[in-house]
Amino acid sequence: MSPIRLIVVLVLAGLTGVAVIWLLVRGSTSEQSLTHQVAVNVPQLSGAAASGKVVFDRNCVACHGANAGGGPGGPPLVHKIYEPGHHADISFVLAVKNGVRQHHWSFGSMPPIPGVSEAEVAQIIAYVRTLQRANGIR
Ligand code: HEC
Repeated sequence: MSPIRLIVVLVLAGLTGVAVIWLLVRGSTSEQSLTHQVAVNVPQLSGAAASGKVVFDRNCVACHGANAGGGPGGPPLVHKIYEPGHHADISFVLAVKNGVRQHHWSFGSMPPIPGVSEAEVAQIIAYVRTLQRANGIR
C-alpha cells in the first residue's frame, strides 16, 4: 500500500471512530433523560377544577409538571394511562394518602403527600379530569 493510501485509510478509520463515539454519547444521554412531557391544551377552568389547579400547583406540580403535563420527577397525568377507565378517581385518593410504588415509569416511587385533605384531592381530580377531557382522554 502506498503511504498516501495508508494515510487516507487511517484518516477514514479515525473519522468513523469519532462518529461512532458521538452516536454512543448521544444515545446514552437521551436514555438518561427521564422526562416524559406532553403538550397540554389548557381549557377554561371554573369551580372545583379551578380550585384543584391551586392545590395541584402547591403539592403536585414539582413532579407532575405544569398542567399535569409531566415533569422531572413524575409522569404526565394528562396521559392515556390515567384515563378514568384505567385509573379511577380512587387511585388519586390512594396515591396521595399512601404514595405509589414505581410500576408504570422509571421515576421512582411517589411518596405520600401529607396535608392534602380528601376535599382537596376531589378538587385535584376535577382539575386533572378537565385537562384530560380537553386533550381527548376520556
Ligand atoms: C415527589 C414526586 C411526586 C409528587 C410530589 C407527586 N407525585 Fe404523583 N406520582 C409520582 C410518580 C413518580 C408516579 C408514577 C409511579 C409509577 O407508576 O411508576 C406518580 C403517580 C401518580 C398517580 C398514579 C397512581 C397509580 O395508581 O398509578 C397519581 C394519581 C398521582 N401520582 C397523583 C399525584 C397528586 C394528586 C399529587 C399531589 C397531591 C402527586 N401525585 C404528587 C411522583 C410524584
